[in-house]
Amino acid sequence: PKIIFSGIQPTGVPHLGNYLGALKQWKDMQDAAHPSDKLFFSIVDLHALTIPGNADKLRRNRREMLTSLLAIGLDPERSAIFYQSSVSQHAELQWILSCTASTGYLSPLKHGLFSYPILQAADILLHQSTHVPVGSDQKQHLEFARECVTNFHSSWSIPSSSSRPPIFRYPQTISLDSSSSRIMSLSDPTKKMSKSDPVEKSKIFISDDEGVIRAKIKSALTDSVSKFVGEYDSVNRPGVANLLEILAGFSGGGERKTGRELAEELKGESLLGLKTLTADAVVKGLAEVREKFRQFGEDTEQNKARMREIEDIGTRRARESAERTMERVREAIGLA
Ligand code: TYM
Repeated sequence: PKIIFSGIQPTGVPHLGNYLGALKQWKDMQDAAHPSDKLFFSIVDLHALTIPGNADKLRRNRREMLTSLLAIGLDPERSAIFYQSSVSQHAELQWILSCTASTGYLSPLKHGLFSYPILQAADILLHQSTHVPVGSDQKQHLEFARECVTNFHSSWSIPSSSSRPPIFRYPQTISLDSSSSRIMSLSDPTKKMSKSDPVEKSKIFISDDEGVIRAKIKSALTDSVSKFVGEYDSVNRPGVANLLEILAGFSGGGERKTGRELAEELKGESLLGLKTLTADAVVKGLAEVREKFRQFGEDTEQNKARMREIEDIGTRRARESAERTMERVREAIGLA
């Protein structure tokens, strides 16, 4: 059986890059999962502390991210959705891994940022994850997580082929092949769409309403190479390629198209036509998410009680899975 794990920082409502690069895959993997597969999706609030700020804001952001994950269709009965900080084994394992991790990959900034990748490795290894669905910007961190497995096993002389299974598994990165694993900014298509970009119209949030989505896509920066779609060319026409990738991200369920295939189909289409098609697809593709976001975000006592219940279920499940691994880790290194 698969163990699927991924995480997202509670730093604001997810944007289209988060959605097409990661969250939509989470939902698709949840729906396609075999009953014996396990799924864990963490709101990584300890990682978010590397941007220190304001306690109330973090509290709000955590709840808002939970709302977002429910809105994209994660089912708390099927997937363990939990705050990283509620499962203290994540921090415990981070320390243990940091004692055998090599510093080469970590670059010296604030200490929290320095150890950021080790905490991420701990997140993944703690739950014996086999599959980690992420956008392409996370590939290097996952490579590092695999290196942590090797270093841990060899430092503590844990054989990888004996009657006893090794302590950690090597997780596999699951990233979309096409460039949708990296959605670019609408106002500067040479940069990735990013939560920290201050330019509002550079990104579409999963909670944006139809008018806002249409306006942002209409104002997306393209180019004056040609008034038509033409060849797919992410180097010379990054803005056009990005719209094609967004359109591709929302293309039909089973037979998902690539940006390149869509360029072929839409060769004679005007850029304005491409923008309209893309806006239509995004509006339609996010309609249900937007509606659920509103419902799960309702400020009523009844909804707040429901959200607390969902938080409890996720925490309980994640703690159980975490403790199973930690018992073996403590035993293997002489702490138990
Ligand atoms: P975060 O919170 O920055 O982003 C969440 C997910 O969104 C993807 N993503 C994108 N995909 C395509 N195009 C974009 N423009 C774009 N921007 C973001 C990210 O690749 C990610 O999958 N370090 C992680 C959180 C983390 C984690 C983990 C992930 C902590 N522990 C363990 C996986 C497993 C992060 O900061 O993601």
